[in-house]
Amino acid sequence: MALLLIRSDKNYDSWLKALTDQNSGVQVYTPETVENPVEITMALTWKAPKGSFSNYPNLKVIGSMGAGVDHLFDDPSLPQNVTLTRVVDEKLSSDMQEFVLARCLNHIKDLEYYSHLQQQVDWSPKQYRRVADVSVGILGFGTLGQAVGKKLANVGFKVSGWSHTRKEVSGIKSYTTAELDSFLATSEILICLLPLTDQTRNILNLELFRKLPEKAYLINVARGGHLNEADLIAALEEGLLSGAALDVFNREPLPKDHKFWKRNDISITPHVASMSSAGSVAPQVVENYHRMEYGSELMNVVSREKKY
Ligand code: NAP
Ligand code: GLV
Repeated sequence: MALLLIRSDKNYDSWLKALTDQNSGVQVYTPETVENPVEITMALTWKAPKGSFSNYPNLKVIGSMGAGVDHLFDDPSLPQNVTLTRVVDEKLSSDMQEFVLARCLNHIKDLEYYSHLQQQVDWSPKQYRRVADVSVGILGFGTLGQAVGKKLANVGFKVSGWSHTRKEVSGIKSYTTAELDSFLATSEILICLLPLTDQTRNILNLELFRKLPEKAYLINVARGGHLNEADLIAALEEGLLSGAALDVFNREPLPKDHKFWKRNDISITPHVASMSSAGSVAPQVVENYHRMEYGSELMNVVSREKKY
């Protein structure tokens, strides 16, 4: 029995170190170091090249190194009889809380706008907004959505969340699938924290933008596939949206000639809202490895049916 790390970027060092530091006795390999593929029973992966798993006939578990699992389902040769897991981690949640809070404050205090004015040596004050007067809506009110919601509510924003099933979170209004329009009508800042599935792909489109309050602001920290890029440009040009902060893109890295780069009303970050820290995640990987060995129920299992 052994654990295999597979990443398309081959950045293995921090994961090898963090897993070795656990002193768990688990043998850890990469595709470059594995000698006997039949020994591999668990793979921990981030965007493995398609077809990678077919080399390992005894795989029982495939774990995503991150919260998102769309990269697993993107591979048509993903083995069928394997349990899929993902990361649920306090650091991943708190990093996402900090990032989204920074984006919300940045927006309502117009910091991006003043940074552009500075480049033009232009002194033009405008009226700012206070957190208590701003309503924020979170599309995808799961692990990260709820963590972000609680942080924003603590700071004083009016927060609501949208998910399949109703959630009970103190001080936050929960909306379910059929209530999307009412949820959107109150979302002056709309944050996307949905998983990317057939149901959520392209959800951030012109029809949805028209249901938001006038001059709403979009923060997409989920996946590029949620956003219809042409519709975002149209919504900005029509004045439906006042701007957008995008951390994720259909193509990453964002191509150098992409229209988004040059727009003052779009703020770009390179998929850094919240990144799995190997040191923080290694204990749950080792715990799941042992559970797999003993045949116990695994933690953070992904539904193959729901695809998240
Ligand atoms: P999660 O715990 O699985 O939460 C997903 C939420 O979305 C759940 O509340 C779920 O509703 C809801 N949902 C899913 N499909 C829906 C639909 N069709 N209609 C309505 N609600 C739907 O996931 P998470 O851990 O919060 O992570 C969310 C996503 O964040 C990840 O999939 C990943 O793409 C992204 N992410 C990005 C970064 C970054 O750095 N940018 C970092 C980490 C994660 P129910 O609870 O009712 O099922
Ligand atoms: C990052 O995007 C993740 O899914 O953890």
